[in-house]
Amino acid sequence: MRDLSCGRIIFGMGTCCYYVAVSIDGFIAKADDSLDWVRHIPQHNSFSVLGGEAVDLFEYHRFFSSVDVLVMGRRTFEVLMSFMEFPYPDKRVFVCTRGEVDTRDLALVTVTNEDPVSLVDNLKHEFKNRIWIVGGGGLAATLMKGGVIDEIILTLVPTVLGSGIRLFGEGNFEQDWERKELVALNNGLTQIRFQKKRKGLRESLFIPASNL
Ligand SMILES: NC(=O)c1ccc[n+]([C@@H]2O[C@H](COP(=O)([O-])OP(=O)(O)OC[C@H]3O[C@@H](n4cnc5c(N)ncnc54)[C@H](OP(=O)(O)O)[C@@H]3O)[C@@H](O)[C@H]2O)c1
Repeated sequence: MRDLSCGRIIFGMGTCCYYVAVSIDGFIAKADDSLDWVRHIPQHNSFSVLGGEAVDLFEYHRFFSSVDVLVMGRRTFEVLMSFMEFPYPDKRVFVCTRGEVDTRDLALVTVTNEDPVSLVDNLKHEFKNRIWIVGGGGLAATLMKGGVIDEIILTLVPTVLGSGIRLFGEGNFEQDWERKELVALNNGLTQIRFQKKRKGLRESLFIPASNL
């Protein structure tokens, strides 16, 4: 089975990827931050594909193994810290804030006041695989405006929320993106991978990991 999930743009640098679950109407969270709309989704054990090869491209664990470092906004970090256990204790995590954040005893979590755009730029030079922008929409908007997001993987949840936290917060950042993969899972989720269009970048520069 071909594994495209680690496919990345080859520049010898890390790839900045916003991988996020989103409702039909473009929200990543309810206004009260509750996650019941994502948590009730059954695990899938089979899948179908619309166009292309029958492979689960973005199964979470496979995606996670392609990630070197996580970047998130302070609000997302606080939601994750409210869980029984912090879900990413074994990877480097950067939390963006203009203030202070208590990381308790999480050794691999770094709180930073650095401009998120230059932070991600620096991480791209430091790491070779994916830099996962966990969210939320506020941080994603800053990074989108700064032009540093290379890839977006959406898990479209068949739910309409009506209001909440938008996929991208406010900002003027119109950009052209290309759909690269589309997977329809039998549990009702649809996963779509987009890659930013780059002027003068030949298609062949995107090389699936299986071909490396
Ligand atoms: N559906 C999903 O897959 C998914 C994924 C991630 C998050 N979420 C949800 O999204 C919600 C949080 O999203 P959000 O948009 O409200 O918040 P967020 O992006 O997680 O965090 C916003 C905070 O990040 C810091 N920040 C943002 N831009 C910055 C900049 N340019 N410089 C310095 N710091 C900056 C600020 O922290 P300070 O205010 O401390 O300065 C800002 O208040 C939560 O409910 C979370 O559960 C959902």
